[in-house]
Amino acid sequence: MRKKIIVGNWKMNLDYPQAMGLVDRVIQLTDDAMKTQIVLAPPFPYISEVELQVMLRTNIIVAAQNCSDKDKGAFTGEVSAAILRSIGAEMVIIGHSERRTYFNETDDVVAEKVKRTLENNLKPIFCCGETKEQRDGGNQLDVVKTQLTKGLFHLNKEQIVNVIVAYEPVWAIGTGVNATAKQAQEMHQHIRNLIKDKFGANVSDNISILYGGSVNAKNAAQIFSCKDVDGGLVGGASLVADEFVEIIKAAELLNC
Ligand code: PGA
Repeated sequence: MRKKIIVGNWKMNLDYPQAMGLVDRVIQLTDDAMKTQIVLAPPFPYISEVELQVMLRTNIIVAAQNCSDKDKGAFTGEVSAAILRSIGAEMVIIGHSERRTYFNETDDVVAEKVKRTLENNLKPIFCCGETKEQRDGGNQLDVVKTQLTKGLFHLNKEQIVNVIVAYEPVWAIGTGVNATAKQAQEMHQHIRNLIKDKFGANVSDNISILYGGSVNAKNAAQIFSCKDVDGGLVGGASLVADEFVEIIKAAELLNC
């Protein structure tokens, strides 16, 4: 059975003391007996320190929020997958809609980043999702199919098993309007079916598909209880330790 995964995407928030305080509290309020995989995705400068803080915990790991599509070299200001791996990151969020929108990341760039992460033994958390206009036009299933096809389907079977997919409808991110359980399940099932068609049932049965977009302590249980929803990619609510841990607990109940 797939175990739930809860990722806290801090985005560009929290100063250093606040970040350390948040990790301390999450550590205090959770324990290694929990089966849920907890993933913290702080800004780059905090990754090493957060990694040190959670080192003795078996169920908390650290992710980066982005990496370069380049291997290494003269790319001032960029951070490579190899660098992230060398400081203890285990996952990287790739293709978040904020990266696609504000930093012009195309499907091709996203596909390259997926490759860089896998080459460096990092697991990509591959984000996909439609805009409001695309959903209003009834095109959400096609939009996500194209994103998956261009961003992930260049991989082989050995590579795809290391990918985590996150469905994040753009209209739900940071808006307080989450997808309903029905909308989430429909899309997650669609994603799993596409993966099945491309890579086979063994891969699609085991791949984790997370939901992201205004997840909070109130709606988490309902969304996570959908058959094809394997946890959450949480933004705003991951900045408040007590609420983030409530979300982890909602996932944990479904693991039992
Ligand atoms: P949100 O963000 O939970 O604040 O909506 C989710 C995300 O962008 O990963």
